Amino acid sequence: MKKICIITGATDGIGKQTALALAYMGFSLGLVSRNKHKGDSIVTELISKTGNDSIRFHKADLSIMSSIKELADEIQNSYETIDVLINNAGAYFSEFEITDEGFESTYALNHLAYFNLTKYLLDLVKEGCSGRVVNIASSAHRNTKLDFNDIQDIKNYNGWPAYGRSKLMNIMFTYECHKRFYQTGITFNCLHPGFVNSNFGNNNSGFSKGFLQLAKSAFAINVVAGAKTSVYLASSEEIGGVSGKYFYKCKEKYSSDVSYIENDQRKLWEISEEMISSVLNNIKDLD
Ligand SMILES: NC(=O)c1ccc[n+]([C@@H]2O[C@H](COP(=O)([O-])OP(=O)(O)OC[C@H]3O[C@@H](n4cnc5c(N)ncnc54)[C@H](OP(=O)(O)O)[C@@H]3O)[C@@H](O)[C@H]2O)c1
Repeated sequence: MKKICIITGATDGIGKQTALALAYMGFSLGLVSRNKHKGDSIVTELISKTGNDSIRFHKADLSIMSSIKELADEIQNSYETIDVLINNAGAYFSEFEITDEGFESTYALNHLAYFNLTKYLLDLVKEGCSGRVVNIASSAHRNTKLDFNDIQDIKNYNGWPAYGRSKLMNIMFTYECHKRFYQTGITFNCLHPGFVNSNFGNNNSGFSKGFLQLAKSAFAINVVAGAKTSVYLASSEEIGGVSGKYFYKCKEKYSSDVSYIENDQRKLWEISEEMISSVLNNIKDLD
């Protein structure tokens, strides 16, 4: 039977390349992103390139928690099991932006979406044979730490530090999931893909967009190299059973000291859970 993998942010960059590689390996794929037209055309492209016709698209705005709820319902109705969930969709917002649900956009898309979707789909991943959750983090997490008095960086927003903190959250979330759920048989790992010449940063304008484009054209690796560790963690037999680790170039690495503070991992979990449930309860009350 084909293994089933759900990949978020699969319509561009590292996610799309990861989907292509896993399609060649014969995975059945659920590609998640926000643009249906782009998603449908990528499904067609991947099927025609790989001959694997077990690929479908699921639309969701992952910065919106109610959209993730609808996505989770759709996925739960479409699959009996999930072997691999890859939380990949993420972005850098140079300017302060607030989502319609009132969250700062970096925090909502890069952290809360990983948290929320994983929680919704955990039971399906448990059904998978040695299910895996793979979280795309970044080396940008280094030299940052969380401020639990202002977890969303609202008081003094600065795009790059906020991005770095959201990627630190990806790692702390991975470690917390490992502690909470490893006994279920699911493995949880995270990774830095390298500095990759993807569409990353192009949602911004002005100096930050131009600077990133310049840096990417000078120093970045291509998406094929950038997707290697994601593909490895999703598919390799040799890391079956390995969990609660941070990888770069398909090798286990030490993440920053602060990422290992267990009390903060737990606190981040509790704050995230509270924030999401208050937003979803507000929406329920309005219905
Ligand atoms: N590129 C790097 O150097 C680098 C380095 C370290 C870590 N990373 C991490 O790698 C991951 C993938 O980044 P990338 O470089 O591949 O970026 P990318 O080329 O910009 O691709 C991002 C993907 O996420 C999707 N996405 C963005 N916002 C979304 C939303 N609100 N709802 C649903 N989907 C959304 C995009 O959809 P559209 O197609 O509609 O835009 C696209 O499919 C991110 O988590 C990033 O933080 C990247």
